[in-house]
Amino acid sequence: MQNLEQILTDAQREFSACDTLVDLDQAKSRFLGKSGALTELMKGLGKLDAAERPAAGAAINVIKQGVEQSLQVKRDAILAAEQAQKLASETLDVTLPGRGKAQGSLHPVTLTLQRIEELFHSIGFEVAEGPEIETDFYNFTALNIPQDHPARAMHDTFYVDDQHVLRTHTSPVQVHYMQDRQPPLRIISPGRVYRVDSDATHSPMFHQVEGLWVDEEVSFANLKGVVQDFLQRFFERDDLEVRFRPSFFPFTEPSAEMDMSWNGGWLEIGGCGMVHPNVLGHVGIDAEKYRGFAFGLGVERLAMLRYGVNDLRLFFDNDLRFLRQFS
Ligand code: DAH
Repeated sequence: MQNLEQILTDAQREFSACDTLVDLDQAKSRFLGKSGALTELMKGLGKLDAAERPAAGAAINVIKQGVEQSLQVKRDAILAAEQAQKLASETLDVTLPGRGKAQGSLHPVTLTLQRIEELFHSIGFEVAEGPEIETDFYNFTALNIPQDHPARAMHDTFYVDDQHVLRTHTSPVQVHYMQDRQPPLRIISPGRVYRVDSDATHSPMFHQVEGLWVDEEVSFANLKGVVQDFLQRFFERDDLEVRFRPSFFPFTEPSAEMDMSWNGGWLEIGGCGMVHPNVLGHVGIDAEKYRGFAFGLGVERLAMLRYGVNDLRLFFDNDLRFLRQFS
């Protein structure tokens, strides 16, 4: 009996010294295993008198239950500690802000082009595109600018080779488009153009939007109405006015320079005119039956005015501090 109490005390001490379930299992087998202390005692019961056996068996059982109970208590404690450690190592602070995604933004020139396309689209103009490397024919000859014509000197042209240039304007798109079709035609063609020029107000690459409307009854008045309506909507100013000044372009007759009212003065924003009969002739459209107007606008000019940008070069420097302002 004295021995039994000792076994319980030993078991409790050994269990409490265990840090892991493996250690605990080994400790357990020293008391409850096949040749554990308590198992040995049970085996010894057979040697006792029959009269002593029940009391001794009952006493061993009480101790056995005590051992099992402290084993269970320790096992629960180890499991709880392991769980707590696991939770601590996997902590997740749900109050931290998310990582998010970096949002880019469209370039101001792209935004301006989109706005121009949207506004012209709403009044029935299609968008047409053409190549940036043009033949001499499309960039000049078909637009009534033959070899040796002084108007060639107006454009400081990048030559690719004898026959090819980087287009100096978007007007050649008119030619491509009219070659394949018959009127009525209504297009704008936005895109990059190139000239040998570089300072605060000129960039070797910039953007133009060409406009073209060819039909049986198209007049200079329609031209002015379309341009003025577009500019008023583009700048969201009902009182914006357009003024035409007589000018010269080989591909239009008559031709005009377009100004718009701005801060009490006038600003030049492009050229225009009635498509020259020679241009219609080059593309097989009957100039007796059809007439049309055309215009060309500078896109960066419109973007600078709309966004209050004072140096053209900002558009092409790729300075993120500038570009992020348009997101
Ligand atoms: N192509 C001319 C330029 O780049 C702009 C222009 C003027 C276009 C008159 C036109 C126009 O369609 O009718 O300087």
